[in-house]
Amino acid sequence: MEYLLEQIASYRKEIEGYQISNPQQLEEFRIKFLGTRGLTKSLFAEMKNVPNEKKKEFGQVLNDFKQFAEKKFEHAKASTGNNQSSDNEELDLSLPGDAIQIGARHPITLVRNRMVSIFQRLGFSIADGPEIEDDWHNFTALNLPENHPARDMQDTFYIHQKPDWLLRTHTSNVQIREMQKGKLPIRIICPGRVYRNETVSARSHCFFHQVEGLYIDENVSFADLKQTLYFFVKEMFGKDVKVRFRPSYFPFTEPSAEMDISCFICEGKGCRICKHTGWVEILGCGMVHPAVLENCSIDSNKYTGYAFGMGVERPALLLYDVNDIRLFSENDARFLKQFGSAV
Ligand code: PHE
Repeated sequence: MEYLLEQIASYRKEIEGYQISNPQQLEEFRIKFLGTRGLTKSLFAEMKNVPNEKKKEFGQVLNDFKQFAEKKFEHAKASTGNNQSSDNEELDLSLPGDAIQIGARHPITLVRNRMVSIFQRLGFSIADGPEIEDDWHNFTALNLPENHPARDMQDTFYIHQKPDWLLRTHTSNVQIREMQKGKLPIRIICPGRVYRNETVSARSHCFFHQVEGLYIDENVSFADLKQTLYFFVKEMFGKDVKVRFRPSYFPFTEPSAEMDISCFICEGKGCRICKHTGWVEILGCGMVHPAVLENCSIDSNKYTGYAFGMGVERPALLLYDVNDIRLFSENDARFLKQFGSAV
């Protein structure tokens, strides 16, 4: 008991001299003297070792000590209050929050959306088709039977376990899927991703995007096709841009053409972008081949139609003056951030 009283006296001395000048020291004090494993608690635990006749006296000394420590604590708590209020200032809930980073639409999406909306204004509706396609929809029904040499220009990736399946090489598969539905007339625009087995470089990639158009009705002519594309070019690239059609070949259109626009970077004078020709190829098009209509059970004596397919990447390179197609799929936020738009 004597020993305990001595200890209490020395703790009192320690408390008297204890410096508490910030909330952290206050907490340290509380843990040491008043915490659940603190000194006061352990002194109370000694009670059972004190002889019965001394218990009352010892209890009183202990209670005094406890109150002494608590007073010191309350006192220090009040005087370190200033520090605490500065902590609260950091938590001012009325301050505006940290800005959340808002993403930007991908440049390919921006250009695709612009293309699609121009055709929507002309009455085209959006259609969609699978990227994993069977041979028939991607090639055979489009008048490209097996062993047709034109297949060589569109080598692609095949599904090992299902040799009949492939990654579509163009959005023209959607033409077939829409015509097979048997509802005429058809006036659709089909944006989507396509794949080709090509070496990746600054100018070409093994996947890219196309926007396909298809219009089937009675008495649709090549003049309708030209007029539609003239309108598109003016809306997309500006009224001063010139257009030229070059005869071409696609197995699924007859006649076929490729359409170029005058290079709006150099205004036709010749530059790196147009390879010094003054013209940039934009799309392939033509009148839907009668065999393709018949493949989809459409009477080719009654109905005619036109189709066109254009890439999205090349106009995007032109419009945004980007010099490497790979930038579009590298997910570099520094590049993508530059296209901030909600369109
Ligand atoms: N599918 C052709 C291509 O990818 C483009 C095209 C579409 C041509 C429709 C004519 C008609 O090259």
